[in-house]
Amino acid sequence: MSLTLWLFLLPFCLINFGIKTILVTGHCLGHQQSLLLQLRNNLVFNPTKSKKLIHWNQSDDCCEWNGVACNKGHVIALDLSQESIYGGIENLSILFELQYLKSVNLAYNEFHSGIPPEFRKLKNLRHLNLSNAGFEGQIPIEISYLTKIVTLDLSSTITSQHGLKLQKPNIAMLLQNFTEIKELHLNGIAISTKGKVWSHALSSLTNLQVLSMSFCNLSGPLDSSLAKLQSLSILKLDHNNLASPVPRSLGRLFNLTTLQLNGCNLSGVFSKNLFQISSLQVLDVSDNPGLHGSLPNFPSQGSLYNLNLSHTNFYGPLSDSIHNLKQLSKLDLSNCQFKGTLPSSMSNLTQLVHLDLSFNTFTGSIPSFNRSKALTVLSLNHNKFMGKVPSTHFEGLINLMSIDLGDNSFDGIVPSSLFRLQSLQHLLLYYNKFDGLLDEFPNASLSSLEMLDLSGNNLQGPIPTSIFQLKRLRLLQLTKNKFNGTIQLDIGSHTPFLYYLSLSNNNFHGRIHESFCNISDLRALDLSHNKFNGQIPLCLTRKSSTLRLLNLGANELNDYISDTFSTSCSLRFLDIKPPYIIDHIITHIFEEGVGVRSYEDSVTIVNKGTQLNLVKILIAFTSLDFSSNQFEGPIPKELMNLTALHALNLSQNVFSGNIPFSFGNLKQLESLDLSNNSLSGDIPVELARLSFLSVMNLSYNHLVGKIPTGTQIQTFEADSFIGNEGLYGPPLTQNWGGEGRQKLSPPVYETFDSHAWSSIEWNFLSLELGFTFGFGIFIFLLIFLKRWRIWYSKHVDDILYKIIPQLDFVYVNRGGQKYRIIRWNPY
Ligand SMILES: *[C@@H]1O[C@H](CO)[C@@H](O)[C@H](O)[C@H]1NC(C)=O
Ligand SMILES: *[C@@H]1O[C@H](CO)[C@@H](O)[C@H](O)[C@H]1NC(C)=O
Ligand SMILES: *[C@@H]1O[C@H](CO)[C@@H](O)[C@H](O)[C@H]1NC(C)=O
Ligand SMILES: *[C@@H]1O[C@H](CO)[C@@H](O)[C@H](O)[C@H]1NC(C)=O
Ligand SMILES: *[C@@H]1O[C@H](CO)[C@@H](O)[C@H](O)[C@H]1NC(C)=O
Ligand SMILES: *[C@@H]1O[C@H](CO)[C@@H](O)[C@H](O)[C@H]1NC(C)=O
Ligand SMILES: *[C@@H]1O[C@H](CO)[C@@H](O)[C@H](O)[C@H]1NC(C)=O
Ligand SMILES: *[C@@H]1O[C@H](CO)[C@@H](O)[C@H](O)[C@H]1NC(C)=O
Ligand SMILES: *[C@@H]1O[C@H](CO)[C@@H](O)[C@H](O)[C@H]1NC(C)=O
Ligand SMILES: *[C@@H]1O[C@H](CO)[C@@H](O)[C@H](O)[C@H]1NC(C)=O
Ligand SMILES: *[C@@H]1O[C@H](CO)[C@@H](O)[C@H](O)[C@H]1NC(C)=O
Ligand SMILES: *[C@@H]1O[C@H](CO)[C@@H](O)[C@H](O)[C@H]1NC(C)=O
Repeated sequence: MSLTLWLFLLPFCLINFGIKTILVTGHCLGHQQSLLLQLRNNLVFNPTKSKKLIHWNQSDDCCEWNGVACNKGHVIALDLSQESIYGGIENLSILFELQYLKSVNLAYNEFHSGIPPEFRKLKNLRHLNLSNAGFEGQIPIEISYLTKIVTLDLSSTITSQHGLKLQKPNIAMLLQNFTEIKELHLNGIAISTKGKVWSHALSSLTNLQVLSMSFCNLSGPLDSSLAKLQSLSILKLDHNNLASPVPRSLGRLFNLTTLQLNGCNLSGVFSKNLFQISSLQVLDVSDNPGLHGSLPNFPSQGSLYNLNLSHTNFYGPLSDSIHNLKQLSKLDLSNCQFKGTLPSSMSNLTQLVHLDLSFNTFTGSIPSFNRSKALTVLSLNHNKFMGKVPSTHFEGLINLMSIDLGDNSFDGIVPSSLFRLQSLQHLLLYYNKFDGLLDEFPNASLSSLEMLDLSGNNLQGPIPTSIFQLKRLRLLQLTKNKFNGTIQLDIGSHTPFLYYLSLSNNNFHGRIHESFCNISDLRALDLSHNKFNGQIPLCLTRKSSTLRLLNLGANELNDYISDTFSTSCSLRFLDIKPPYIIDHIITHIFEEGVGVRSYEDSVTIVNKGTQLNLVKILIAFTSLDFSSNQFEGPIPKELMNLTALHALNLSQNVFSGNIPFSFGNLKQLESLDLSNNSLSGDIPVELARLSFLSVMNLSYNHLVGKIPTGTQIQTFEADSFIGNEGLYGPPLTQNWGGEGRQKLSPPVYETFDSHAWSSIEWNFLSLELGFTFGFGIFIFLLIFLKRWRIWYSKHVDDILYKIIPQLDFVYVNRGGQKYRIIRWNPY
C-alpha cells in the first residue's frame, strides 16, 4: 500500500477507534491552524453530535486535532465525516486554501447544496470522499481537474430527485484525466448516458481496482470493453437497467473478487467461465429473471463464499463439484429452475451459514447438514424433496435459527430432535406428508421456537401438551391435519406471545375452552372446520381489543347468535367464512390471479356476473359472515341495527321465520346471502328497495309469493331465487321448487393442495364490526379480472397490512411468472 493511502486511511482508523489522531510530523504551522479555526467558525454544525470540530481547541497543536493529519506542519488530510454539518458551505472557501490537502472526507453531512467548483484548487488531492454528504445537482466539471485523484467517492445511498447528477459534464468528461484512479464510487448518482459511452469512458482507467456504480440509472449494454480493467477487484453495477447479456470477456478479469450485477435486467446466457475466476469470492447476479445458465464444474480450491443466483432462470442440477467451494458460506439458488437431486457432497460444505434452495424442483432426499456447524438458515421449501428427515441430519446445529421444508413431499414422523435445536426460531414443515403422532417436545420451556407451522400434513392424534409450553411461540399453525382430542389446556398462561393460532381443519372436539381468552397477545384465532361443540365462550367475543380475526366456522357450535349479541355489546368482529385466507397467511402464500372457481366459492351468490358487482364487493368496508354453521331460529333483529354492513352472509344454517322487513335499515348492503336456510314467508319489499344491493342470494329456502315487481331485485338472475317452492314471478321463468333442493350440495370448499398453490383462494378476511363501526376494515376478495388487480394491489395490501401489520409482501419468480407472496413476519 502506498504511503499516501496510509496517510489517508490511518486517521480514519484511529478516529474510528476513538483515539485521537497522533500522526504528527512536525508541529502545526500557524497559518494552517488559523485556516482550520476559520473553517470551523464558518461551518454550521450540530455541537451535540460533533465529535471532531467541537474539540478543536486553539491552545493545542492543530495536527493533533480530531480529523486532522499533517506532514511537516501542513495539513494533508481532513476528515470531517459525520459531523452533522448543515451549513456554511458558501464559506467553505477557507477549505480550498489548505493547499497541501491530499485527502478530504466530508461524508455523511447535510450540506444540501451543489459541490463547490473550488475543489479544483486542491491540486494535490488524491482522496475525495463526499459520499452521503447531501450534495445535490450536477457534478461540476472542475472535479475532473483533480488529475491526481486515486479514490473518489461521491456515492449516495438515498437516491432522490435532488441527488447528484452526472449528465453535463457526462461521465466521460468527468473521468477523462483520472489516470491514477484506483477507486471510483458513484452509487446512486443519476448517470444518463446512452449505450456504451459509460463503459468506454471507464475502460481507459486501467488502474481501477474498485468500481461501484449501483443504482445509477445506467442503461445498457454491459460492454465487453470493461474487460480491459485488468486490475479490477470489485465490480458493482447492481440495480441498473442494463438490459443486456453479460459479456463472456468479463471472465478475463483475473483479479476479480466481487461481481455484483443483481437487479440489472440481464438477459442471455451467463457464461460458465465467470464462475471459474479463481479469485472470485462474491458473485451476485440475483434478481435477473431473463438471465439463463447452468452451474459449472466448480474448480477445486474455489474462493467463492457468497453465491447468489436467486430469481434468475438458471437451470439444471447442482453438481457434485459444489464441495470444491470449501469457503462457501452463503448459497442462494432460490426461485430458479434447478432440478435433480442434491449431491451428498454438500455435507462437506462445512462453512455454510445460509442455504436457500427454495422454489425450484429439486428432488430426492436431503443430505446431512450436521457438519455445517455454522448453519443459521436452511430454506428448502417449495421443491419436490421427499423421504424421511433423519434427526441426525441436524444433530448439533446449535446456530440453526430457521428451517423451512414446506411444500415438499417429506414423509415419516417429525423428528422430535428438531425441537432440541437450541437456537431454532422458525420450524416450518407445512404441506408435506409427515404423519404419525407428534411426540412431546423435550425441554419445551427452554426452546427458542417462535413459529411452528405443521399445516397440511397427516399428523394424527392429540397434540403434545408441551406445545403450549413453548414460551416464545408467536405463531402456531396446525391447520389441515388429522389431529384430534380436546383442547382443555391452560393455553394462555405458558404462551404469552402467541399471536396467531390456527387449529382449523382437524378433528378436535369438545368445548372451546375459555383458556383461549388468556392468550394475551392473540390476534388471530382460527378453530374452524373441527368438531368443537357447545357454546362460544363469551370472553372470546369480548376479546376485541387484540383479536383481529376469529374464525369458528364449520364446527358444531349451537349458540344462538342473538344470545351472543345481546350479552356482548362490545363485539367487534365475528366469524369468517371458509376457506380462510388466513389459512396460509404466514410463511407462504397467496398469489394474485386466483381462479374463477374460488370466487364462486366465496361469494356463491347471484351470478349477476358483471364487473360492477366485483367492484362493489371490493370496496365494501364491513362484512359479517356466519355461514356454514348450525345457527337456528329467526334471523336476529340485532343484525338489522348494524347499519354500516356492506356484506352479510348467513347461508348454510338453519335460520327460520320471515326475512325481517327491517333489512331496509341496512342501506349500505351490497351483498346478501341467505341461501340454504329454512326461511319462509314473502320477500319483504324493503329488501327490494336496497339500492346498493348488487349481489343477493335467497335460494333454497321456503319463501313464497311473488317476487316484488318494479324493483331492482328483479334484475338478479333466477339463480338468486331458485329452490323456493312457493316463489314466482320474474326473473323466475318456471317453478324451480322441488327439484333443486335434493340436488343441492353445499359449495365445496377447495382444500389446499400444494400442487394447486397457484389457485389458492382469496376470501373474506376480517372485519371490524360492532356498534361503533368507526371505520370498518375489510376484507378482500380474490381478483380474477386483471383490471381489478390493479386496484387490488394498490389497496388491499394496505388494508391487509392494517389488519395484520406483521404481513410482509414479497415477490417471487416461479416458472417464469412473478407471484406475490404474503409472509407473516412477527417482528
Ligand atoms: C459567510 O460569509 C459571509 C460573507 O462572505 C458572511 O456574511 C457570513 O456570515 C458567513 N457565514 C458564516 C456561517 O460564517
Ligand atoms: C482548550 O484546552 C485548554 C487546555 O487544554 C483548556 O483549558 C480549555 O478549556 C480548552 N478550551 C476549550 C474551548 O475546550
Ligand atoms: C467515505 O467515507 C465514509 C464515511 O467515513 C466511509 O464509510 C466510506 O467507506 C468512505 N469511502 C471510501 C471509498 O473510502
Ligand atoms: C485533460 O488533459 C488534457 C491533456 O493533458 C488537457 O488538454 C485537458 O484540458 C484536460 N481536461 C481536463 C478537464 O482537465
Ligand atoms: C434515467 O434514465 C432515463 C433514460 O435512460 C431518463 O429518462 C430518466 O430521466 C433518468 N432518471 C433520472 C432520475 O435521471
Ligand atoms: C492482481 O492481484 C495481484 C495480487 O493481489 C497483483 O500482484 C497483481 O498485480 C494484480 N494484477 C493486476 C493486473 O492488477
Ligand atoms: C428489461 O429489458 C428489456 C429489453 O431487453 C426491456 O424491454 C424491459 O422493459 C426491461 N425491463 C425493465 C423492468 O426495465
Ligand atoms: C440473494 O439476492 C436476493 C435478491 O437480490 C436477496 O433478496 C437475498 O437476500 C440474497 N440472498 C442472500 C443469502 O443474501
Ligand atoms: C467429504 O469429506 C470427507 C472428510 O473430509 C471425505 O472423506 C469425503 O471424501 C468428502 N466427500 C466428498 C464427496 O468430497
Ligand atoms: C451426521 O449425519 C449423518 C447422516 O444423517 C449420520 O450418519 C451421522 O451420525 C451424523 N453425525 C452426527 C455427529 O450426528
Ligand atoms: C384420535 O386419532 C387417533 C389416531 O388416528 C385414533 O387412534 C383415536 O381413536 C382418535 N381419538 C378420537 C377421540 O377420535
Ligand atoms: C336498535 O337500535 C334502536 C335505536 O338505536 C334501539 O332502540 C333498539 O333497541 C335496537 N335494537 C336492538 C335489538 O338492539
